[in-house]
Amino acid sequence: LNSASSDLYHWERENLGYQAGVLTIAGQQAEVMAHSAGAPVFLYDAQRIRQNLERLQAVLAQAGLSHSIYYAMKANRFPPLLTYLRLLGRCGVDVCSPEELLSARQVGFAETEISYTGTSVSEEDLAVLQRHPGVIIHCDSLSSIRRLGRRCPGRRIGLRINPEMGLGYRMNRLLQYAGRKATKFGIYHGQFKAALHCARESDLLVEGIHFHTGCGYLTPQLPLWSQILEAGQRFVDECPDLRYLNLGGGLGIPLAEGDEPLDLSAWSAIISRQFGNSNLRICIEPGDYLVKDAGILVLQVNTVEEKGGTLFVGVNGGFNLHIEPAFYKLPLQVLPCRQPDSSLRRRVTIAGNINEACDLLAENILLPPVHEGDYLAFLNAGGYGSSMSSNHCLRGFFREYLLP
Ligand SMILES: Cc1ncc(COP(=O)(O)O)c(C=O)c1O
Repeated sequence: LNSASSDLYHWERENLGYQAGVLTIAGQQAEVMAHSAGAPVFLYDAQRIRQNLERLQAVLAQAGLSHSIYYAMKANRFPPLLTYLRLLGRCGVDVCSPEELLSARQVGFAETEISYTGTSVSEEDLAVLQRHPGVIIHCDSLSSIRRLGRRCPGRRIGLRINPEMGLGYRMNRLLQYAGRKATKFGIYHGQFKAALHCARESDLLVEGIHFHTGCGYLTPQLPLWSQILEAGQRFVDECPDLRYLNLGGGLGIPLAEGDEPLDLSAWSAIISRQFGNSNLRICIEPGDYLVKDAGILVLQVNTVEEKGGTLFVGVNGGFNLHIEPAFYKLPLQVLPCRQPDSSLRRRVTIAGNINEACDLLAENILLPPVHEGDYLAFLNAGGYGSSMSSNHCLRGFFREYLLP
């Protein structure tokens, strides 16, 4: 099937695009970087991360909200990237495990710049938190409140709540953390009074409410965002000593043609409307919004062959390096690292090098003719790519470069 696509370049921006026919990110040629790395390679544009952070801060400031941003480290924990964020000095970091906490400390984040939002918290996890008395903790169960209280009486905490509504990229259920089906995340309203009682009994002071209800939401999900904040208000009203509200992460970026960037002004206006007069500090903990579009994954084509009527393009990395298409069914945009000299497009399926049927990075997409030895770039790979990678089939090796 051949077809001409006019809109191969809608993703282009300053510091990401074709220069003299070669895909370039932050001044570096993607295929040259991949060739010299000699392995699958993630390239991260540091300036883009900074711009994403500054854009978010500007919109919160414009809305008159006193605010703090905690970067959700689970999106990407590449140490140079964490160091870069630390040196920018414009955000804290949200962690969800002891090792993430220690990684944040290693690159210089102060305890008070770190929030810990964990789940299924063990005694060993609590022991690490006990040794870091300045870290902000969000307890997401009565059990963790009770056990933390035993170790750290007098500590100030936040409670992660479950507003029983979720949202996510194109309302993908796999990306929703709350909703009709019971989830493990947060304290439900029916248990909230008991949780507050438990905190009092355990000598813990509740000074924050936290909720994170899903990932990747864009402008069409904002009416739901508004309802979620309203649902959060019920919890807020029951806490006399509250100082902050953490609205989680989940802010999405366009992943496929037809997606529009999240309307940040409308997003912040909803926050202002609900909590603008509350005197509460508004905290958010975005992961993807800061790093996803700053990164690309570059892989080399090793096989181009038709099988059963499908043209497969085999590459030197698989779903173990970037799990989102296989795991969450999220679209991954693919580009040739060299600009095609014709407008010819063919339908292809990009297959990885892992012996699993689900090891497809993109299915039935239009690409210019691809040859063995070519390099392909996968956009929006800065979040939940390397951080979720595995060594399945002992093919977990890759390199990462932070480009200044
Ligand atoms: C508690 C919490 N906060 C923040 C995030 C970051 O989400 P995102 O990368 O979609 O902004 C997550 C993601 O799973 C999360 O679980």
